[in-house]
Amino acid sequence: MLILAIESSCDETSAAVTEGRKVLSNIVATQISEHKLYGGVVPEIASRRHTEAITAVCREALNKAKVSYDDIDAVAVTFAPGLIGALLVGVNFAKGLSASLNIPLIPVHHLRGHIAANYIDSDLKPPFLCLTVSGGNTIITEVTDYTCFKPIGGTTDDAAGECFDKVARALGLSYPGGVTLDKIATTPDEKEYPLPIPHTEGKYDFSFSGLKTAAVNIIHKFTQRGEEIDIPVLAATLRHRVCGILTEKVLSAAKDFGYKTVVLAGGVSANSELREMLKSECDKNNIQLYVPDLKYCGDNAAMIGVQGYYEYLSNNIANLNLNASATMPIDYR
Ligand code: KG4
Repeated sequence: MLILAIESSCDETSAAVTEGRKVLSNIVATQISEHKLYGGVVPEIASRRHTEAITAVCREALNKAKVSYDDIDAVAVTFAPGLIGALLVGVNFAKGLSASLNIPLIPVHHLRGHIAANYIDSDLKPPFLCLTVSGGNTIITEVTDYTCFKPIGGTTDDAAGECFDKVARALGLSYPGGVTLDKIATTPDEKEYPLPIPHTEGKYDFSFSGLKTAAVNIIHKFTQRGEEIDIPVLAATLRHRVCGILTEKVLSAAKDFGYKTVVLAGGVSANSELREMLKSECDKNNIQLYVPDLKYCGDNAAMIGVQGYYEYLSNNIANLNLNASATMPIDYR
């Protein structure tokens, strides 16, 4: 079964051709260079660029997979959550394809897609415990089956990616800040740059907004006093704290719920320290860790196609009334 998958939830226009878990092509047209000028994603610009790019990106995905529209059996599309204008471009394009080619339309939740990035080129099967960390979300989910998700904790305010991005911006690092912060970070120094340990009511919940504010306040204080900040050290201190919190919570949930398989997903899964820290803690606790290949950590349509396959098998098929939604819980269905 060949699926043409489309992803346009934020600032990447992506199309892929997938067959089950196999990726035949995966084209990603990124808008980063344009949003960089503004220090973050400008939603209206994102929507316009998706509209301009989507036809060519889909054509390229078909060409790369050496297939044509007539060979495609179904179209899968990210319908939620994300920037509403950006999502609508992908959803409407997919609806057009579904109607004109007379093929099923498969709606895919963006975070379920991020989790499915771990199925590509791997033997991973549910059940497992998943930590999904991106620019807009940080959640721990029990994945009991390919389309059954039970969230057990999540952020009560900002996502970890948001915390990295905003502090990076205050440090004058280029967008997307989380990526740059990870690249330049050296050795943490918690005495020079003390950061709070966030408290949450829920054992598996997160809070990153206080940490973000504390780091930004440090930057302001140093600037007001005319003192120089050691940017790579502050970056490393924040990274170490955030990765420590993420690792500790997911490991304690894995122990409490008895999971022997832990999976990392979302854009922040590319973070070098998070990958290392989780690996070392999982090894110590005899837990098997799966992390996505770096090329599937960020937004891409291949992961949407792979999850779309499982959604199709569980009869999650939409009609032309499908609408995009900016927010949507992972266990919506
Ligand atoms: O999943 P994603 O591509 O987009 C959504 O939010 O859905 O995640 C983007 C986030 C951004 O906050 C970006 O700064 C962060 O992932 N990110 C990283 C790294 N690579 C991407 N954060 C820390 N370290 C990285 N290496």
